[in-house]
Amino acid sequence: MKLSKRIQTVEGSKTARFIPLLDALKRQGRPVISLAIGEPTYDTPSPVIDATKRSLDRQETRYSDMAGLMGLRTALAGRFDGCGTENIVVFNGSKQALYAIFQSICDPGDQVIIPVPCWVSFAEQVKLAGGEPVFVATIDHQLDTEAIAAAVTGKTRAILINSPNNPTGAVYPREALERIARLANEHDLFVIADEAYDFFVYDNLPRSSFYDLETVRDRLILTRSFSKHYAMTGFRVGYAVAPPAVAEALVRLQSHVTGNVCTFAQHGAMAALEMDEGLLVRRRADLQHKRDLAFDQVSGLFPCVRPQGAFYLFPDISDHLHQGETSGGFAARVLEKTGVAVVPGEDFGMDGHVRICFAVPDDQLLEAFKRIREVL
Ligand SMILES: Cc1ncc(COP(=O)(O)O)c(C=O)c1O
Repeated sequence: MKLSKRIQTVEGSKTARFIPLLDALKRQGRPVISLAIGEPTYDTPSPVIDATKRSLDRQETRYSDMAGLMGLRTALAGRFDGCGTENIVVFNGSKQALYAIFQSICDPGDQVIIPVPCWVSFAEQVKLAGGEPVFVATIDHQLDTEAIAAAVTGKTRAILINSPNNPTGAVYPREALERIARLANEHDLFVIADEAYDFFVYDNLPRSSFYDLETVRDRLILTRSFSKHYAMTGFRVGYAVAPPAVAEALVRLQSHVTGNVCTFAQHGAMAALEMDEGLLVRRRADLQHKRDLAFDQVSGLFPCVRPQGAFYLFPDISDHLHQGETSGGFAARVLEKTGVAVVPGEDFGMDGHVRICFAVPDDQLLEAFKRIREVL
């Protein structure tokens, strides 16, 4: 049986592949420590769990509004100056929002500029839409806006910016966002801003969002998520904020894909928005502490740019590679010898590095670095 050419050009999510692998190792009784999966080990907040249960008790188990529950969209719109419910579309995670965005803006051959290293799904999602990802290197993980400008061609449709960044933890300053906004205006491009980690910015650095730049709003498609901040990765609730014509196109697509996002999960998401910011502030402080702990540990082993946001380290492991070995080989060697799972940098378009998630309990972080130190 023949599969489509489209699906044959697409690779499965490289980070998601760790989930069954780690489960298998655990079943074999191996003392595995996973620093590979991009999710915090915190509990989902109890107000979210309670609201979801109450929603189930009320039998809110039916099809619902394809753009997302009006109550949720109203609450989200209220968080963005000048935004109405017609600008918000709720998706099964921001991953699905991004998929829908590329499907809605790319014609075959259209290019999307993506700074690298970058999250694993961007390029594959662009390809699934018939588009072409155009990778542009960063400098010490910060945007090289001149190189981005030089990469713009007549086929460019959009520039995709992810800050705080997965896998580097880089946070881009407002001036860099302003340069991208100018470029988008000059060349009539969309800006796609993936802000899945927007609250997790450390050291009191400003949380710059593209949404703050009014000059770019009519070409901005922004995605955010409940996954990381509220430890709700399995709920699958994220959203896009977009100009009404784009939002309408996203809903039209949604109407043929999943119809709506799980109704009771959206009630959980609404409860998350009703919570005061105290929990998020405490989690951010705890993650900053973990960032410091992990950065201190990693610095003794590999060169590493200090992350300013998200919950990842992206150290340069190239001095420890065996002859002909890639970061994939290194990660496999570390997993085999120590039971510690990290993600190879080549999966994010930058070999010679690995991604380490530090959103795990402190004792596991320390134990993982101890084992890596021993094997090196
Ligand atoms: C940069 C980035 N964007 C989007 C996502 C998708 O998250 P979700 O679909 O859970 O909202 C992730 C998840 O790891 C991510 O790291």
